[in-house]
Amino acid sequence: MSAAVVTHKPILVGFKPIDDLHREFESILEALNDPAEADYGAHLLALHEHLLRHCDTEEQFMLQEGYAHYERHKRAHEHLLDSVSEARRRFDAGDVESVRRYSADLMNWFAIHASSEDAELAAFLRGEKT
Ligand SMILES: [Fe+2]
Ligand SMILES: [Fe+2]
Repeated sequence: MSAAVVTHKPILVGFKPIDDLHREFESILEALNDPAEADYGAHLLALHEHLLRHCDTEEQFMLQEGYAHYERHKRAHEHLLDSVSEARRRFDAGDVESVRRYSADLMNWFAIHASSEDAELAAFLRGEKT
């Protein structure tokens, strides 16, 4: 199966501000994992900056709307942000291969988060769930 066959639908949740972030995440991660892109460190930094903003935006929606599962969802974000910080630390220490494995696997984690925590939040923000 070629990479072009992979569907990206599971990362879209039906709430535009979050879907915009999810498309942005996807394009940043693709650039990071593109072997033709030379400056891996710059793309890793861009990914970290994006994820800080991405998680914060979702958390602001949760707080503004009184979302009941804020703490649980925020813990998942903290796990993600810790893992990116750790990847940057390893990259700075010269352990590029382990960071490449991390970034190659990150979409798997993200797709699960998007189709569970983010999808549940989106349904709440659409007024479909309490
Ligand atoms: Fe998200
Ligand atoms: Fe999230």
